[in-house]
Amino acid sequence: MTLCRHIEDIERHWKLGTSDAEMETFVREFRSAAMRHFEDEISVLTELGAATDQHCRAHMTMIEEIDTALRETLRQGERNRWFALVDALERMLYDHEILEDSRYYGLLAGPASA
Ligand SMILES: [Fe+2]
Repeated sequence: MTLCRHIEDIERHWKLGTSDAEMETFVREFRSAAMRHFEDEISVLTELGAATDQHCRAHMTMIEEIDTALRETLRQGERNRWFALVDALERMLYDHEILEDSRYYGLLAGPASA
């Protein structure tokens, strides 16, 4: 499942009135999927010879943001807070893809054909 699909699932569960405990589980599963995705991404970029230290730090910052958002959501105990969390995850992913991952698109595309 893609990370975007994970977020869509979390949002769907929120709309269906899923309990806070189950919502927490879904967010933790998303976090685990994000970790695996980031590890795979760094592995591919490293194999292609890219410098990845800064990108690894960006990934870890995202994981910390997920942890903070989840902790705050659970602390506040307000039902609508889950929607804010989903919105934050979605924005975080899109921003990362546009601002950070896009730097490697040329490398991933391979040599240009003549
Ligand atoms: Fe990335």
